[in-house]
Amino acid sequence: MTLQSIDIPEDIKQLAHDDAATNLIALGHERIEAFMQDNDSVTENFVRCDFHLLDQALTWIEQNHLLTGRRFCELGSGFGVAAMLASLHGLESVGIEVESYLVDQASDLADELDLPTAFYCGSFVPRGVLDIEQLGSEVEHVETHEDDVYEEIGLAMDDFDLFFAFPWPGEEHFFEAVFEAGAAVNSLLLTFRGRDGMGLLRKV
Ligand SMILES: C[S@@+](CC[C@H](N)C(=O)[O-])C[C@H]1O[C@@H](n2cnc3c(N)ncnc32)[C@H](O)[C@@H]1O
Repeated sequence: MTLQSIDIPEDIKQLAHDDAATNLIALGHERIEAFMQDNDSVTENFVRCDFHLLDQALTWIEQNHLLTGRRFCELGSGFGVAAMLASLHGLESVGIEVESYLVDQASDLADELDLPTAFYCGSFVPRGVLDIEQLGSEVEHVETHEDDVYEEIGLAMDDFDLFFAFPWPGEEHFFEAVFEAGAAVNSLLLTFRGRDGMGLLRKV
């Protein structure tokens, strides 16, 4: 099995946002900003995800009929903005986050906005799918322990059709390895890559 790259055109930046997405992104930025001000250690080297670009990428993926189903999972969901944007696109969406404080923050925001997005506390690394010891030694900014969170969700990793992750620069390969090992054939992995924009891979 391999990962096939799909080029997302530059002109997706011209795609419109609906009002609900604009409101969610503004609220998400406010919460993230407040969190960073309260946590000096987080501020250093902190790069924000471009949620506007993410919303446009989701629109483009749908317009081009790239999805094989409607289930979305954000790997390391933080404040959960990506998973909530996916709900606004009509996807059945969950976020997995290892920090319980962030799970609470994301769940509160989803409640406030009356969105059905569900957030789960745990590691998105499923048990027994890859050589985690080798792979884990190559990354610094990801929790690499294996977990049973998919059981709590009631879905296996290979039940999802689209994943989103915002990896630390240079640590994309960890997310790709987890995706390649655990996701279904034909599912998609969308990643935010800072200045390089959005990357999209299909497992083939
Ligand atoms: C760069 S932040 C991205 C947050 C969010 N996806 C976004 O785009 O704003 C990465 C997040 O992944 C979480 N994380 C790291 N390793 C994880 C793991 N194994 N399982 C679940 N969450 C993890 C971190 O706590 C952090 O909130």
